[in-house]
Amino acid sequence: MESSFCVNKSRLSLETGDITVQETDAIVNAANSSLMGGGGVDGAIHRAGGPAILAECKQIVARQGPLPTGKAVITTGGNLKSRFVIHTVGPVWRGGNQGEPCLLASAYRESLKLAGEKGLSSVAFPSISTGAYGYPADRAARVALAQVADCLNKGQNRLREVIFVLHDPHTFEVYQTALNELCLSA
Ligand code: APR
Repeated sequence: MESSFCVNKSRLSLETGDITVQETDAIVNAANSSLMGGGGVDGAIHRAGGPAILAECKQIVARQGPLPTGKAVITTGGNLKSRFVIHTVGPVWRGGNQGEPCLLASAYRESLKLAGEKGLSSVAFPSISTGAYGYPADRAARVALAQVADCLNKGQNRLREVIFVLHDPHTFEVYQTALNELCLSA
C-alpha cells in the first residue's frame, strides 16, 4: 500500500514494508540512548546493516555519551542499500503529559536537520516510538507528519522525498488518516 502528497517541491509518502530494504539516501533508526542496538526496527537495521554501524555508534557514544531523547546522530549504512543510518531516540509514552509530543517532534526535526546538513535528497522513517515505547500510533502519526511537513515547507534542505515505511497495515491506515487530516487542514 502506498500514498503520497506534495509539500513545497518535495514528496511525502507512506508505504508498508521493511525499512531495511529502502533505497533512500538514509533510513532513520528508532534507537535507544545507548545506541547499542535492541529489538524492533533497531534490531532489524543492525542485523541488515552489519557490524560497521555498531562500530560507529560505539565511537559516537565514547565521544559524546548516550544519545538524549529527541536528538539524532548519523552513521554509515554498512551493508544496507542506504548510504547512511540516522539514529534517533523517541520518547517513551508516559501518558502524554511528560513532554512526549515535543520530544517526538524533535526526533523527526533533528533527523531531517542532519539529512539536510549532509545534503541528502531522500530519507525513510519508521513509526518512531509506537512499538516498544508505547506511543499511541494515532497521536504519533499526527506529530510526525506535521513536523516533517513543516520541515519540508521551510525548504532549508535538498530533500525531495520523505517516506514513512510502516510495518503493518494497521499502522499504515493510522498514518493515512492523519495524512488526510493534515491535507485537509493545509
Ligand atoms: N521496518 C519498518 N518498521 C519496523 C520494522 C522494520 N523492519 N520493524 C519494526 N518496525 C516498526 C514497529 O512495528 C513499530 O511500528 O517500527 C515501529 C517502532 O517500533 P520499535 O522498533 O519498537 O521502536 P520504538 O517504539 O521507538 O522503541 C524503541 O525499542 O528496539 C528497541 O532499541 C530500541 O530501545 C529502543 C526501543
